[in-house]
Amino acid sequence: MSSPIGVFDSGLGGLTVLRALRERLPDEDFLYFADTRYLPYGDRPEEFLRQRGQQVADALAAHGAKALVIACNTATAVAAETIRAHTVLPVVALEPGVKPAAVMTRNGVIGVLATTRTLESSRFQRLVDQHAQHVRVVAQGCPGLAEAIEVYGASSRQVEELLDAYVLPLAAAGADVVVLGCTHYPWAAEGIARRLPKETQLIDTGEAVARQLERVLQSAGLRGGGQGRLSLASSGPVAQVEETVARLWGERLPVAFWDWG
Ligand code: DGL
Repeated sequence: MSSPIGVFDSGLGGLTVLRALRERLPDEDFLYFADTRYLPYGDRPEEFLRQRGQQVADALAAHGAKALVIACNTATAVAAETIRAHTVLPVVALEPGVKPAAVMTRNGVIGVLATTRTLESSRFQRLVDQHAQHVRVVAQGCPGLAEAIEVYGASSRQVEELLDAYVLPLAAAGADVVVLGCTHYPWAAEGIARRLPKETQLIDTGEAVARQLERVLQSAGLRGGGQGRLSLASSGPVAQVEETVARLWGERLPVAFWDWG
């Protein structure tokens, strides 16, 4: 029970999920892995993501994780089932908040911002078929956005230009609820909201994932036993990752380098 919960993403987008996890479960320890060498996952072939997901699950298990959170919509869309079949750890995955959006919309138009990989996945199609048949779903792929948020920062000129290209069409389509379907996008929530009418609601799934993780830990008898510790690791250049963590997370934390070939 005193083991950490392993959390991973292609980079540091999953820190937006980690923030919600730590708020809800302050007495758990967390071990976060940023697969920075392969950022962005959104541009990687599906087979690669499935193999990589299994390797990351193994690495987190080898470092003592008692459960696994896939804090990446793209990895979930493509590899969640493979990872679940591969690991003995309980796995919590996340997906774009299409279901709550379809309930919340007043005018019947919802926007979804996500990677192209996520939007093209059969899992996303299923989500829309099951929960959003009665509404219009405007799905907007956002190539380059997750990477630009990490590399240049959420208020950089590069991110502003991408937001013009990806968010303004949702405003034009009249979406009154917009789903942040990639864990990097909450870092740019202010810039996204600025391009939409004031009353537009943004949906971020961090809190829902935290509630689900709590339920899963409880039913597996794994809840509690930590002390709120946080460890970080990355497959990328750690000095640079530490800088990005300081900028996004607001705290300077050491990042261990993980490489398994
Ligand atoms: N943060 C990720 C997601 O939720 C992945 C972005 C990427 O690496 O392309 O989809």
